[in-house]
Amino acid sequence: MAQPATERPAQAAEDWTIPQDWEAYTPQDHAMWDRLFARQAAMLPERAVKEFMDGLDVLRLSKSGIPDFAELSDRLMKLTGWQVVAVPGLVPDRIFFEHLANRRFVAGRFIRTPEQLDYLQEPDVFHDVFGHVPLLAHPAFADYMQAYGEGGLRADGLGAIDRLARLYWYTVEFGLIRQGQDLKLYGAGILSSYGESVFALDDPSPNRIGFNLKRLMRTHYRIDDYQQTYFVIDSFDDLLRQTVEMDFAPLYEELQRESDLGTAEIIPQDIIFNRGTQAYARSKTGA
Ligand SMILES: [Fe+2]
Repeated sequence: MAQPATERPAQAAEDWTIPQDWEAYTPQDHAMWDRLFARQAAMLPERAVKEFMDGLDVLRLSKSGIPDFAELSDRLMKLTGWQVVAVPGLVPDRIFFEHLANRRFVAGRFIRTPEQLDYLQEPDVFHDVFGHVPLLAHPAFADYMQAYGEGGLRADGLGAIDRLARLYWYTVEFGLIRQGQDLKLYGAGILSSYGESVFALDDPSPNRIGFNLKRLMRTHYRIDDYQQTYFVIDSFDDLLRQTVEMDFAPLYEELQRESDLGTAEIIPQDIIFNRGTQAYARSKTGA
């Protein structure tokens, strides 16, 4: 993943926001959104958590073309009090947390080129809006994201941002959820990726294990390829409750005394939904 810029670009406001400049999108830009949308919309109803599909619907994200953030924010504001604001790229941690704590989701405004259809380094408007915004229409998830921002500001003071980043990674970006007898997708990194939307649910390669906050915060993650482990939550209410009730300062201290876990490691206390073969990861390293 690319590192955030450390110096604020000249065109950005103090909080790093920029105008979306919706009129500047070309017909090709809008066509790229439509192409990505159609591909995901065809396969996700079976795979995504119901609340994500409901969010797409209630926010009218199926409308053709890149969404206008002002219009999108109007709808979102009425539902959960969130807004979507444009930023020039990855922003410094503190700026990111400040926005979340104030119920503002920062989104890239550019869209990938056809050559970047399946992989790009910095999040574009499709990842940020299609992947992240639908669940912001769900009250418990909306509250979780705000609580995460507040937790980030506290973690910054405790030197624990790297630990907390794992929570974002394994829930907001790459989380799975139990729905009845099935596992479903809710992480934006998965939902905005055609390949990982299949891999995360169907492939025998990755581990799928029950969410455990402390265990998760000991676990390294992959930034260069599909995850080797996915954590499964029971519900958004449960995720919110567990993180809001947790006193993170003593947890960070405890974690300092425990070893980190590798991206594919299983430990005795894990609740295992699927013990991964890791065949995919091995095939990539040639080991
Ligand atoms: Fe993301």
